Amino acid sequence: MTTPNEQPGGVLHVTDSRTGRSYEIPISEGAVRSLDFRQIKTSDDDFGLLCYDPAFLNTASCRSGITFIDGDAGILRYRGYPIEELARKSSFLDVSFLLLSGELPAKDESAAWSAEIGKHTYVHENVKKFIDGFHHDAHPMGMLVSTVAGLSTFYPEAKFVADPARQREQVVRLIAKMPTLAAFAYRHAMGLPYAYPDAELSYAGNFLNMMWKMTEPRYRPDPVLERALDILLILHADHEQNCSTSAMRVVGSSHVDPYSAAAAAAAALWGPLHGGANEQVLRMLQEIGSVAGVPAYVERVKRGEIRLMGFGHRVYKNFDPRASIIKEVADQVFSVTGRNPLLDIALELERIALADDYFISHKLYPNVDFYSGIIYQAMGFPVTMFPVLFAIGRMPGWLAQWQENAADPEQKIARPRQLYVGEDLRHLDGELGG
Ligand code: CMC
Repeated sequence: MTTPNEQPGGVLHVTDSRTGRSYEIPISEGAVRSLDFRQIKTSDDDFGLLCYDPAFLNTASCRSGITFIDGDAGILRYRGYPIEELARKSSFLDVSFLLLSGELPAKDESAAWSAEIGKHTYVHENVKKFIDGFHHDAHPMGMLVSTVAGLSTFYPEAKFVADPARQREQVVRLIAKMPTLAAFAYRHAMGLPYAYPDAELSYAGNFLNMMWKMTEPRYRPDPVLERALDILLILHADHEQNCSTSAMRVVGSSHVDPYSAAAAAAAALWGPLHGGANEQVLRMLQEIGSVAGVPAYVERVKRGEIRLMGFGHRVYKNFDPRASIIKEVADQVFSVTGRNPLLDIALELERIALADDYFISHKLYPNVDFYSGIIYQAMGFPVTMFPVLFAIGRMPGWLAQWQENAADPEQKIARPRQLYVGEDLRHLDGELGG
């Protein structure tokens, strides 16, 4: 696939069969502008031609310089860098810096950035009171969505979204506080006291500390697991205009503060067709129960009774490059934790599905969520925490996209049109409620 800036410009000649009139619609960057179709009318009082695209299957909602995906070739790049290189050689915080600023940080910038994030990892003590109000069995994603939104009440200056200095403060706070909110939600569910951040640990190491610290005076994360988690966060950091990122942009386009927009994005992520899929994959593997149960399960999928969770993607139609990297990470994690027995079921499911006509013809391949859950489980995370881990990783991407949207002079409040298919004008007869 050529990138938009490699596409030649041109003109689309359109003839409206209703009127016989012809139009020239400019083509630029491989796209036509929907608004150019509004001139196509059947009469002066006609509103003009609309483009109908439910679920945005073929609509670009923005011009973006952050993430490039070629779904057919299985390519994912952040700011031009291949995901494979970033996963191998970079860190999650440096990747966050890259997404937000456009460049990887120099050594001193990297150290300053990570110190700045470390300084903002604490949350106001009152946040613990909100969390305490949740039931012990509340889903941690529900707690996360609520506490992210709740942060806006602590930082009223966050509403000054056009002020770059204020904007940056909230960006730092959101990236810094996500692991704290996530770990506090977990500790609440477990009935454990909250473990406070340790700024001497890495971003991933500190998260593991807040999750698992018990009576030891100082928690020391296993370096293999710490690195594995950091890589998983890198793989989730951005994915262009997916459902949650679009939610971030759309909600942010009303100029609401970024905490409220990020809460909306996290809510969108929670759904089982998006970031909630990793949780569903684990439940699915547990339901299948054994390698012997795989063929019958695949048959149910082919009969259309259920979907194979962790398979398929709106954009990737060949392979998901993140899934390939995750398989390598899995080996490293299992060398420390021992092999997750669900892995055998997952491998068999992948083997059978990839050889089956249904999956080949529908271009269904394992996506990022297929193996991530097995790794998280081996590391000790309960299934309900899986989408929370995804949300921590995706936060810098949401924020970079939000900033880009705010700085784009072409963007306005997002407001799609509709094709009204309801009743024509009608009137009430007689008495109301009769
Ligand atoms: N299992 C079985 N059949 C499937 C699946 C699946 N996982 N995904 C799509 N199909 C079939 C679907 O039934 C349809 O078949 P037909 O044309 O015969 O009616 C066809 O493939 C196209 O499906 P679609 O729903 O139009 O595809 P989409 O591009 O709108 O959906 C998807 C993409 C990811 C929502 C979908 O593949 C799915 O539901 N996958 C399972 C959930 C999942 O793993 N989600 C995580 C995505 S990756 C993480 C992220 O970025 O969110």
